[in-house]
Amino acid sequence: MQGTAIAQPNIALIKYWGKRDIERNLPAVGSISITLRELFTRMRVEFDEALDGDVLVVNDEPDQAMLPRLSACLDRVAGMDRPRAHITSHCNFPIAAGLASSASSFAALTVAGAAAAGKSIGVDRLASLAGGASGSAARSLLGGFVELSNTAQDIEVRSLCAAEDWPLSVVVAITETGPKPVGSTEAMEISRKTSPFFGRWVEQQVRDLDAARAAVAERDFVSLAAVAEHNCLKMHSVMWASRPPMVYWNAATMRCLQTVRGLQDDGVDVFFTIDAGPQVKAVCTPRYAGDVAAALRETPGVIDVMTSGLGDGARLEPDL
Ligand code: DP6
Repeated sequence: MQGTAIAQPNIALIKYWGKRDIERNLPAVGSISITLRELFTRMRVEFDEALDGDVLVVNDEPDQAMLPRLSACLDRVAGMDRPRAHITSHCNFPIAAGLASSASSFAALTVAGAAAAGKSIGVDRLASLAGGASGSAARSLLGGFVELSNTAQDIEVRSLCAAEDWPLSVVVAITETGPKPVGSTEAMEISRKTSPFFGRWVEQQVRDLDAARAAVAERDFVSLAAVAEHNCLKMHSVMWASRPPMVYWNAATMRCLQTVRGLQDDGVDVFFTIDAGPQVKAVCTPRYAGDVAAALRETPGVIDVMTSGLGDGARLEPDL
């Protein structure tokens, strides 16, 4: 009646922004991500017939905010008639600050929940369950480079390249630790309804996906850098042109972009990407990870820097 799983957050290089079916949480566009290795969420689910309601503890503190979404996801994994559960989560990075904590949480929850319910669920169904709760979570089920496709009738993920087959590094520059002002789910809908650029964003995604897929297949860092930076800035342009505008950046975010440009000018293999938050993720080849981390750490306004390699998908852990 219990299961423990670990999942890593993922960083999208070609972004998911917008939904085509809100009810089923189907994305309006495909996306491509990399799964990280050093950042993690460990989630334990234990069903308990004696409980009246689900209980969630995150990093040793009771948490009500996230509970309804986790409970609903667990209902879908284990069935509506399941016993109530103790859900315990440990996360080694800031939650809800644009670092994809929901991705690793829901990926870990579906895997742990299925084990606790004694069900053996394949990755296709897990993708639908995790992605139904949070689109990006489906990508954390797999490791390395992962594509979430938009053509399927359901949420589908596939691996483009294993972590060890193109070992890149990711340096995350934390510029703020509080939760973001508008969550991605709501922000995407505001963009879809009000941004004059939303239609063009959706139209152009196919060619960005093609370019990124080809770059991954060729291990072509320069081409991947170009399309990833373009796709990131395009997504933020969609947000900035929404009404109300959604600007997740702060002054330090911009300074980090300048730092990355400076490194590029010096011949360093690095590019940036930014999600729905003010943190900057710099993707580089491992030989430059130390230089990139040092440069970002010295950038005014950067609070902390975390470096990670690429890692594996969500998996069961022995119970502690
Ligand atoms: C900017 O997966 O958090 O990080 O499906 O509504 O839960 P919901 O959205 P979510 O959105 C992630 C948005 C993004 C880009 C990305 O990860 O692809």
